[in-house]
Amino acid sequence: MPSINSPVNASLKENLKQYQELVEHSIRELLPVATTRPQQLHAAMRYSMEAGGKRIRPVLLIAASELFPASEDPRAAAVAIECLHTYTLIHDDLPAIDDSELRRGRPACHTQFDEATAVLAGDALLTYAFQLLATHYSSNPQLAVELIADLSTASDSQRLIGGQMEDIENEGQPVDAATLQFIHENKTGALLTAALTMGLRFARPDPEQVRLMQQVGYNLGMTFQIVDDILDATSSAEIMGKPVGNDSAADKSTYVALHGIDGARTEAQRHTTEAIAHAQQLGGNNAFLIELIKELETRIH
Ligand code: IPE
Ligand code: IPE
Ligand code: MG
Ligand code: MG
Ligand code: MG
Repeated sequence: MPSINSPVNASLKENLKQYQELVEHSIRELLPVATTRPQQLHAAMRYSMEAGGKRIRPVLLIAASELFPASEDPRAAAVAIECLHTYTLIHDDLPAIDDSELRRGRPACHTQFDEATAVLAGDALLTYAFQLLATHYSSNPQLAVELIADLSTASDSQRLIGGQMEDIENEGQPVDAATLQFIHENKTGALLTAALTMGLRFARPDPEQVRLMQQVGYNLGMTFQIVDDILDATSSAEIMGKPVGNDSAADKSTYVALHGIDGARTEAQRHTTEAIAHAQQLGGNNAFLIELIKELETRIH
């Protein structure tokens, strides 16, 4: 693993920043302006979307689209997945779910506006994600349908929303390893996998390439949520931009609760090693993707 100051890592940070800036610019360009009627709804959508965040999913999507030569522009798909992700965060923070008042370093959407507005802003971002895909890729219907299928499958009742449901259902009770894996794989891993497969779709992949990318996504997604659990137990609200300690306060099913911090770190390392092996097998222009996979294991926020 390269140290934080090694040249490899320095160029990763620079690259990452450039991708993040591209995403920020695309979000500003593609979202309805905040003064659109009804103003409060569009202001809330922009408030949550423009609050920052690491933009990992859109960056992964763009990085995956660059593995092999592609002709279409992935930026609208990148914004679409960030809209969908932001909707899940707005709803995740609601009093009925995680009851969390800070997100991306600012008051959560329902705290800044009100609960009704937050529910509707989430609904609107979810719908807008699919509108973006259907309208921006209409001249390439096969691509549009594949992107819509990947994103809708990842966020359906058995995947992302199913994971959220079991996360809530299992609050306050001991959970076994298989249930915990179901929760992590679905509430978080499914959308990260979709980011990668959606990006890959731009290069007309064969089924074996899609399968390999799904394995990268599964392992990357597990690492990502395990690290989120570790940071909830070890970091601070200032660094994270969201409250910490919520998981143990709500008696959530986390890797830290089940395996302890060291056990959770070992699991995160194991999944990272697997993700890198699959990315190497996939080949192509994968240097940035591999560096990013490593970074997501050692991230501090
Ligand atoms: C938070 O996602 C929710 C999880 C799946 C752990 P991120 O950690 O990607 O949040 P942002 O987008 O950077 O705010
Ligand atoms: C979030 O899991 C997963 C989704 C929002 C789908 P968490 O509840 O752990 O995310 P944070 O910690 O609030 O960002
Ligand atoms: Mg949650
Ligand atoms: Mg939460
Ligand atoms: Mg969390």
